[in-house]
Amino acid sequence: MRIGVAGVGRIGTMHAAHLAALPAVDEVLLHDPVEGRAEETARGLAKARPTAGVAELLDQADGVLIATPTDTHPAMVRGCLAAGKPALCEKPIAADLAEMTTLVEEVEAAEVPVLVGFQRRFDPAVVELRRRITTGELGPIYHVRATGFDANPPDLAYLPSSGGIFRDLLIHDLDAVPWLVGEPVIEVYASGSVLVDQAFAHADDVDNAVVVLRFAGGAHALLAGGRHDPLGYDHRIEVLGGKDSVAVGLDPRTPLNSLEPDGPRSDADAYPGFPERFRRAYLNEMQVFVDVLGGRADNPSPARDSLVSLRLAEACEQSRRTGTPVRVDLRSDGGSPS
Ligand SMILES: NC(=O)c1ccc[n+]([C@@H]2O[C@H](COP(=O)([O-])OP(=O)(O)OC[C@H]3O[C@@H](n4cnc5c(N)ncnc54)[C@H](O)[C@@H]3O)[C@@H](O)[C@H]2O)c1
Repeated sequence: MRIGVAGVGRIGTMHAAHLAALPAVDEVLLHDPVEGRAEETARGLAKARPTAGVAELLDQADGVLIATPTDTHPAMVRGCLAAGKPALCEKPIAADLAEMTTLVEEVEAAEVPVLVGFQRRFDPAVVELRRRITTGELGPIYHVRATGFDANPPDLAYLPSSGGIFRDLLIHDLDAVPWLVGEPVIEVYASGSVLVDQAFAHADDVDNAVVVLRFAGGAHALLAGGRHDPLGYDHRIEVLGGKDSVAVGLDPRTPLNSLEPDGPRSDADAYPGFPERFRRAYLNEMQVFVDVLGGRADNPSPARDSLVSLRLAEACEQSRRTGTPVRVDLRSDGGSPS
């Protein structure tokens, strides 16, 4: 099997390496418009070869991984649909709701698999958490807490185009938590502050935020996220049910210091960033992509589900700005409720 990788920047290079390590992948074809970048990446990887352009990728690959900047995603996805090539597109598949809605309809009409790179959906621990919720092993869900703190802010030049903290950072948990709970969110309340760097205020954004999601069945989720954690990259989900209480992302590398005598202490090995924290998720994401291509797996992150998280992110932004809760009806917005 041949997989094309469009864009070998930060995340495309990592995905290309993970693809090249899979036995089912015979060749990884690379393209990047920056001169020499695809060639340099290919030199470091067995099985990888640079190509002259996206047209060559679409022609020769069995499936395409899209790891280009967000504003290029809709055109890249459309190219894959036209060529009938399954794609895994990094999140988000489109930056705004109107464009995403049109694109989702095109994806479904083409009947070409498009997976969206929300890596929590591929994380073995999160997959196991969802299994336990779905089978009832946790009992009725009372409460979910999701923590999403980056170690350091992104390049400040990126802020004006980021879409804000909800569309850029909390979007991952706005995707994962409703998917885990399996019920529609009916109300959102969000609040945020600038505590790390005034550059966020100048970009009309915040650098720390909290979100309360209310689900149709009465359970609540509390999401907290921010742009600076002095100990490292802390992304966790905890679920309290009527029969059990479990966590993902809580292990000896979690950047958290307990003040109890026997509690965990953060150390130099704390997760520094997303590639380390979500390594198992990214590895499995490539395996699942290859399995979907081979007809051996269902798509766990379909394009339509991206409408839910983007709709919730927009409701969060509205709530933060108005200071009031926002009612949401995801089913009437075209997003699937689970
Ligand atoms: N799921 C995650 O955890 C995660 C993490 C980081 C980034 N992302 C997403 O991945 C995407 C890429 O982010 P990044 O941080 O790797 O960006 P990046 O800027 O490091 O890399 C993007 C690469 O795409 C190349 N590129 C630009 N236009 C292209 C084109 N038309 N064809 C082929 N290549 C092209 C650029 O030259 C660059 O090398 C973004 O949409 C981002 O939101 C997801």
